[in-house]
Amino acid sequence: PDAERIADLLSRMTLEEKVGQMMQLDARGGDLEDLIVNKHVGSILHTSPADLPRAVKMVNEQTRLGIPLVIGDDCIHGYSFWPGATIFPSQLGMAVSWDPAKIEAAGRATAEEVSCTGVHWTFSPVLCIARDTRWGRVDETFGEDPALIGELASAIVRGYQGGAKAGEPLPKDAILACAKHFAGYSETQGGRDASEADLSHRKLESWFLPPFERVAKEGCGTFMLGYESIDGVPVTFNKWLLTDKLRGAWKYNGTLITDWDNVGRSVWEQKVKPDYVHAAADAVKAGNDLVMTTPAVLGAIEAVKTGLLDESLIDAAVSRILALKFRLGLFEDPRLPDEARIKAVIGSEEHQQLNLELAREAVALLRNDGGLPFTAGAKGGSAKRIAVAGPLADDAQNQLGDWTGNSGQVSWMPDGQPREMITTVLDGLRALAGDDCEVTYARGANVVDLVTDPAGELYPDGQPRPKIGVSAAVDQTLIDEAVTNAREADLIVAVVGDVVQLVGETCSTATLELLGGQNALLDALAAVSRETGKPMVTVLISSKPQVLPASIVGENGVLAKRVSDPSTGTGSILWAANPGMKGGQAIAEIILGLTNPSGRIPVTFPRHAGQLPVYYNQVRGQHGDRYADLTQDPAFAFGEGLSYTTFEYGEPRIIGGATDEDGAFAVGDTVHAEIDLTNTGDRAGTEVVQAYIGDIVTSYSWTDRELKAFQRVDLEPGETKTVAFDIPVADCTIVDPDANRIVEPGEFELLIGHSSRRDELKRTTFTVA
Ligand code: IFM
Repeated sequence: PDAERIADLLSRMTLEEKVGQMMQLDARGGDLEDLIVNKHVGSILHTSPADLPRAVKMVNEQTRLGIPLVIGDDCIHGYSFWPGATIFPSQLGMAVSWDPAKIEAAGRATAEEVSCTGVHWTFSPVLCIARDTRWGRVDETFGEDPALIGELASAIVRGYQGGAKAGEPLPKDAILACAKHFAGYSETQGGRDASEADLSHRKLESWFLPPFERVAKEGCGTFMLGYESIDGVPVTFNKWLLTDKLRGAWKYNGTLITDWDNVGRSVWEQKVKPDYVHAAADAVKAGNDLVMTTPAVLGAIEAVKTGLLDESLIDAAVSRILALKFRLGLFEDPRLPDEARIKAVIGSEEHQQLNLELAREAVALLRNDGGLPFTAGAKGGSAKRIAVAGPLADDAQNQLGDWTGNSGQVSWMPDGQPREMITTVLDGLRALAGDDCEVTYARGANVVDLVTDPAGELYPDGQPRPKIGVSAAVDQTLIDEAVTNAREADLIVAVVGDVVQLVGETCSTATLELLGGQNALLDALAAVSRETGKPMVTVLISSKPQVLPASIVGENGVLAKRVSDPSTGTGSILWAANPGMKGGQAIAEIILGLTNPSGRIPVTFPRHAGQLPVYYNQVRGQHGDRYADLTQDPAFAFGEGLSYTTFEYGEPRIIGGATDEDGAFAVGDTVHAEIDLTNTGDRAGTEVVQAYIGDIVTSYSWTDRELKAFQRVDLEPGETKTVAFDIPVADCTIVDPDANRIVEPGEFELLIGHSSRRDELKRTTFTVA
């Protein structure tokens, strides 16, 4: 029936109305009536909820066909623009949990909160692969591994869309998901956002496309394009990617949207199209549907009239946009804001509790010198004083990170989220350390000074441009205060990291060092800890892996030494990405031993920005593939993360699945494997068991191991569990020079264990005939 209604509508629409449907325009401060009545706009984004009833009324009363608007917004880790909404850990923070079930629940909770405000669609999740972590949008990714990304992205898509499969109607409390940025946007040059990507079809097929293919099958309603060009062709005009691959090979029936003014930028910035008529025509020919914030896409009208563009291609795009609106049931119910649900659902107790549970799993213990857990500090303990220092210890905005409050991306919400909903590390320690344990705080360092952007105070459209951050000077007075507190304390906690002015779209960084006075502060506190023997913990709250100074991580192997020596570092290290509203409580619980950490890092930490790329699954090279002045060993490898208990792995066993009687596997078989895991410590804990496959000899250069499966396993002290994995042989592929995925007969390794580090993986082999 939807197909009939779509055909009927199309037959009654003028060319102008059809092209209008393809426009998504920014509703902030614009003339809504002009957009709806004169431009026939099909979608708006970044709208004020108060405008929605007005917009629906205009559509119904002032447009000929009453085609409903579809409303989109960036609800990236919670509904960022709604004061009081639940703000979860950033996507990278969620990935630290390796917990698809919790991530699906966070997606569900976000959908419940967003859907009752009248917004139908979130531009999330990001499926980009974080390889050059100087890129400003690492925080928006699920990390560096395609299998992990595919699994976690599918989970959050199910949560957003209420489990609706491809083409199925969305429940009323669900929102459309958007897999972005299709594809290869993160493969920047030097980490610089939106630069040309050096990507062959083989490289795309090997790592960048698989997570997208996975969510396409999951029924993800929409895909958003990247900003980059591949081989000289901006993704917006890449017919191979948008039409042949996505719609052809994958049979994807959802709706595509460009990123912000992709079509316009091809003319005024990138200069690959002579004018907007050609740009609009070529974008439609490549397979685009909705075009974000390019009013000049109206050039498609002239393109049709002058024979440059076939109207049937516009009809196809508009059909897919209308299908989306039918999928949401908008013709029957425009899903206007619902005051009762807003009160009941947004920031509800249940969502806050889920947020806390996710935050507890979103913190990784990277190093422990024995100082953690600091049990003497928990309620009833014997410690009298905890000295907290560092600019991130009580900074609600930067704990939440980008796309929230008054971060650069959403400067139109100047007051940020209500402070009382956010527990910082300082709040958490004060609440949990006990009445007789004093928690002192000295900021110790500033991160950035805010200065006017050299590009000017206003954007070309008149919107205020946020100030930019430049590294702040070291302030010895601030450091001295923190050192004085530290000398009087039983535990030193330093909370450092990065700030939203240096994170996000257009905000890539050349270095990964801590900015401002933070390194000097850490050096000074580490000196106190080493001199006095007082335990110290460094908490890193950062949008992406940062490089910590040698005083904390130990001699780094940088600058010709090549050998690292962690023993020269100080104390323990926790990394919490941007851990959301409850992050400070989760961190305090972990410091005080009330929660046993279980996070594992989804992205490798380099020792130095010059070591990039440092992701674990690099293609095997030859003997010169390393630096002369730097070890290639990362600071912390993909999958690493410690617990307060210890785990012991048995030997992996392949227990069946081969159809061939001599034990060899065929491509259609599944490898059934098991491994015994024992909690050898004295407290309950969770291990994330990781299973990697290595194809021992390949016809073309390839990585020596790739993650294929993982499981979070809870174990009581002394308990042993058998962990089972089923790995389809069809997943044990390499990609040939013609970009075909193939399984090559021969011997394979199955590696199971604690992290991507080879010496932490137990090995067995199997043969594919
Ligand atoms: O959704 C975002 C995208 O990720 C980056 N550019 C702007 C879009 C809309 O805000």
